[in-house]
Amino acid sequence: MLKNKITLITGASAGIGEACAHCFAREGSHLILAARRPERIMDLATSLAEKYGIRTHGLVLDVRDRQAVNSAIENLSSQWSQIDILINNAGLSRGLDKVQEAYYLDWDEMIDTNIKGLLWVSRAVMPGMVERDGGHVINLGSVAGRQVYSGGNVYCATKHAVRAITQGMRIDLLGTRVRCSSVDPGLVESEFSEVRFRGDKAKAEPVYQNFPPLQPVDIAETVLFCATRPPHVNIHDVLVMPQDQAAVYASYPRGVE
Ligand SMILES: NC(=O)c1ccc[n+]([C@@H]2O[C@H](COP(=O)([O-])OP(=O)(O)OC[C@H]3O[C@@H](n4cnc5c(N)ncnc54)[C@H](OP(=O)(O)O)[C@@H]3O)[C@@H](O)[C@H]2O)c1
Repeated sequence: MLKNKITLITGASAGIGEACAHCFAREGSHLILAARRPERIMDLATSLAEKYGIRTHGLVLDVRDRQAVNSAIENLSSQWSQIDILINNAGLSRGLDKVQEAYYLDWDEMIDTNIKGLLWVSRAVMPGMVERDGGHVINLGSVAGRQVYSGGNVYCATKHAVRAITQGMRIDLLGTRVRCSSVDPGLVESEFSEVRFRGDKAKAEPVYQNFPPLQPVDIAETVLFCATRPPHVNIHDVLVMPQDQAAVYASYPRGVE
């Protein structure tokens, strides 16, 4: 179903985005892989092309930079410009500080990446989908888009925004054959916590030691499921949690072997 489709994945250099790249490559989709770290993106592009015989295009891109996003999409060559699937995955959290104590720059980074970056990329890619009357936008939300946890204030707000934007997109796309879904994970083991704590492993590692977390591939397989339904089916949203996490504040401390 994905053979020869073109999929653009933002935040493809790590975690869930990278896992999506592997799953979609396995199914024969050509891939535009976007993120800021050039070496990772280029290495991944080369290795997936070799392994799966697909075409890949590495795009060094900061989704916060609206002009860069527009020019990257506008300048895609004709073999890449007809994007069938957009996976809006690039995102991050910074800190767990109370609103009254938090850092302005952390707020800027989260809002500029998770909300505005997602909008810039969508705004650049969606007109082509609408014009061709086909395509699929899949946004990475979070359980944090449905519940708020201690210190999660602005990160949770950005994921609540993703949820609202996804719902709005579906309404705006009515009458077209462009689909829009969101995949909302609970705790996933990735670089996410290290990024949240700015490289402090002593703070990041315990996050994944209370119970077995989801792995990026678990979410990538869910994204793939959404993208491979028959054309008349649109998965609105999927909440995927670790078996031991019933809600952000309800988990079973099974430990991890
Ligand atoms: N991990 C979790 O527990 C969890 C749970 C729910 C939802 N999510 C969501 O899932 C998505 C992926 O997270 P992850 O867990 O895979 O985290 P991750 O391992 O830290 O990966 C994040 C990816 O986003 C990219 N990125 C960050 N800022 C960017 C920017 N300004 N421009 C372009 N790319 C950018 C990073 O690449 P570069 O640094 O190379 O740019 C990286 O590839 C995020 O939207 C996150 O909010 C994660």
